[in-house]
This record gives sequence, C-alpha cells and structure tokens, in this order.
Amino acid sequence: MAKQKTLFECQACGLQSSRWMGKCTNCGEWESMIELNNEQIKYLKETSGVKNKNIESMAQAITAIKQEEIDRFSSGSKELDLVLGGGIVASSLTLIGGSPGIGKSTLLLKIAGNVAQSGKNVLYVSGEESLGQIKLRSDRLDANSDNLFLLCEINLQNIIAEIARTEYSMIVIDSIQTLYSEDSPTASGSVTQVRTITFDLMRLAKTLDIPIFLIGHITKDGSIAGPRVLEHMVDTVLYFEGDSNNELRILRGFKNRFGSTNEVGIFEMNKNGLIDAKSITNKFFSKTTLQAGSALTVIMEGSRPIIIEVQALVSEAHGNPKRSSTGFENNRLGMLLALLEKKLDLPLGTYDVFINIPGGIKISETSADLAIIAAILSSYRDRPLSSQTLFLGEVSLTGEIREVSSLQTRLKEILTHGFKKAILPAKPIEDSGVKCFVANDVAKVVEWMFE
Ligand SMILES: Nc1ncnc2c1ncn2[C@@H]1O[C@H](COP(=O)(O)OP(=O)(O)OP(=O)(O)O)[C@@H](O)[C@H]1O
Ligand SMILES: [Mg+2]
Repeated sequence: MAKQKTLFECQACGLQSSRWMGKCTNCGEWESMIELNNEQIKYLKETSGVKNKNIESMAQAITAIKQEEIDRFSSGSKELDLVLGGGIVASSLTLIGGSPGIGKSTLLLKIAGNVAQSGKNVLYVSGEESLGQIKLRSDRLDANSDNLFLLCEINLQNIIAEIARTEYSMIVIDSIQTLYSEDSPTASGSVTQVRTITFDLMRLAKTLDIPIFLIGHITKDGSIAGPRVLEHMVDTVLYFEGDSNNELRILRGFKNRFGSTNEVGIFEMNKNGLIDAKSITNKFFSKTTLQAGSALTVIMEGSRPIIIEVQALVSEAHGNPKRSSTGFENNRLGMLLALLEKKLDLPLGTYDVFINIPGGIKISETSADLAIIAAILSSYRDRPLSSQTLFLGEVSLTGEIREVSSLQTRLKEILTHGFKKAILPAKPIEDSGVKCFVANDVAKVVEWMFE
C-alpha cells in the first residue's frame, strides 16, 4: 500500500511543509509546526482549487467596465473616519489588531453604538464576553440604541444564520480567533480556521454589501495572530498603538484598499471609553522648561504635524554598553551613536544610551534624527536645551543634515504653539515667523544647540 503523504502546517504563519521543523523557516516561530491529519489534508485540497468549475468566467475590456462609486458612511468618530480614508466603506472587510486591553472592543462597541444611533441596524458578535459584560460597557460608553444587537456566539454558521435573518448595515466580530467554522476540521484559532472564517466573511461582506469589522489578537512580535494571508484577504488593516498605562491610543493604517495609509487616528481613553483626542497637538510635550536629555521636534503623522519631545539618557556603562529605544528604531539609534563617536569624538562606546518617546508614539520618519542627537548630547553633557528651540532634520551617514518634507506645515505648527526658534539644515523659502538657525552638519548643530 502506498505510504500516506504527511503534511505539517505552521500555526503561526500557515507555512506548509512535508517535513517537521523545530523552527518555522518562514516566521521563525519555535515548535509551531503541527502534523495535519488526513481529514485536514483532504479539506485543504478541496478548498484550494477553483470551486465553481461550471461557471463560465469571461474577461471584459477595461473600458467597458463601469466605475463603481465608493459608498461611505460616517462612523461617528472623526479620527476613525480619517484613518479609513473618509468613513466606513460599504462591503469592506476591516481588521483591527492590538495588544490585550488596549481598547479594541471599547472602540468598536462605541462605533457600533454611533452607527446604530444614526438609525442603522448593527450586529456586535462577541466570542469573548457575555451579554451582561458588553451591556455594562455599552452603558459606560453611552452606546445603547434599539438598533444595536448583541450576539454571543462562536459558531460561524450560527452567526451567518443571524445575519440572514435581519438586515444589518454593519457587523463587528470580536474576535476572529475565537470563532470556529463547522466546515473546517481544526480547532478555533488555528491557521486553517482563521483562514476559512475570514474567507467566508469576506464573501459575505461583498455579496451582502455590509461592512464587517474583525478584531484580531496579536502575537508577541506585534503582528496579527493567524496566517500571514489574513492581511492580504481583508481590505483594510489597522493597528492600535500606545501603552495601556497611558491614556493616548493611536490607530495606524497598515493597509487600505480604499484610501491612504498615511493617516493615524488619535484617541484618548477615559472613563467613557475611547474618545477622539480633542487637541492632540499638545499631548506629546510639556511647555515648561526642559530637563537635560530632552529635545523637541515636529513629526508628520499623515497630514498632521505633531510636536513631540524626545528623551535620551546617557550614563556610564558597567559592563557591556546597552542601547535601547522605545518609540524609535534601535538600528537608527546605533547609526546616530556611531556618527557622534566618529564626527564629535564622543566616547559613547563606554556609555549606556536609552531613548524614549513619551506618549506611546512611534517615530516612523527620519526627521527626528537631529532632535535625537540633540537629546543625546544634552544628556551626555548634563545640560538642558532651550525649551523654545525645535530640531528638524534627517542625519545622513556622512554627518550631513538633510531637509525634511512639509517644512512650512511644521514651522506653522511651531508658531501656533508659541515656540520661537528652530534649528534646521536650510532656511525656508517663505518666512514663517520662526527664527531659523541653519546647521548642515552635526558639528555645527553643537554650536547652536546650547545657545
Ligand atoms: N470602568 C472602566 N473605567 C475606565 N476605563 C476602563 C473601565 N473598564 C475598562 N476600562 C479600560 O478599557 C480597557 C479595556 O479595553 P478593551 O476591553 O476594549 O480592550 P481590548 O483591546 O478589547 O482587550 P482584549 O484583547 O483583552 O479583548 C482597559 O485596559 C481599561 O483601560
Ligand atoms: Mg476585547
């Protein structure tokens, strides 16, 4: 008798392999490969091919295709509308991920409440909490409405039956990892289950024209738990950032088929839930005098300029020098430190260097390089910088300082908050009212920075 073929699947990323591996070669997870049984292999074979062989599929000339209007409605939250590219798109499938307790259920229950209060029927499906728990949260968030329906269910077929019974305008699934489908033979939360359920929900969203929000758990490296393909299947992927001890939360677009991924939504967690942060621009710095090791800069989050404080701590190392940063890329910190050693002869190899960006914000652009350098020098010399001066510039490997994008917008923001000076690599074309000091290499910055 022919030997039955064995197949292993990684439970973290979905990689399939004919041999077992202790560490997945795709995602690097240890002990994540499980052997699929015959039933599972049969199921995979059935679902991976073209299903409807009888339906004739014909190509059309692109010019003959009518342009579809994107139908959107407001989520009742300006910040979420902004991240989504102008509101919720009918028939879209959106995945929202974030660490435990960051506020995924809170935000989506509030949004469900907003949409229901505007007169649309909304279904909130929870596989994690009881009806009583959700009601308690809804009371706190002021999300109650006769149009908001709750369902505590983990069986996908029962959920689909409920969706077929009532006409809903929006559906929230909390969370994708808790659901299970009778069509798939593996346990809930497994790669095969998550893939099958997402596929079925995607078809549901497209055929019924209903926007569906999926809440997703994340793994310890910060990506959504389940197969990598999950992010490809959905239209929009949003991640919650921020620290659960801090009240600010940032919702960042990672993928959006209906808009840009540049924008972020900024929310504040208070006793009434996650609310749109009213004045976000003064949340990431304090205007009192700066301590040694702090510097100010302006970063762009989408189209919004945000003034932030960056902090550095440079202290003598006992043993191997440590380099660690929160909110700033560690490799970039290494590069800036090497540059300071080479260009300014600073003996940073014998010092520990820590960088922190307060407020839970993550710097994803290079315009803050100069401010990071200023903060490091300020901590190293134990001399505070002027609380009136902001640093704007990208630093190259040669120590040259490069210009940043959207300079006028950044300078306008600086002026709005009453700051007077900026250190940057080139004088702006238009006079913004901010006194600009031009420094185009790192050594020159040191001249200006403690003025
Ligand atoms: N009564 C309350 N008053 C104020 N804040 C509260 C209250 N109850 C919960 N919170 C806040 O809400 C947060 C929990 O949010 P939520 O349950 O929406 O998180 P989640 O992202 O859905 O987490 P999980 O992944 O565990 O489901 C808590 O961390 C807490 O900060
Ligand atoms: Mg939750």
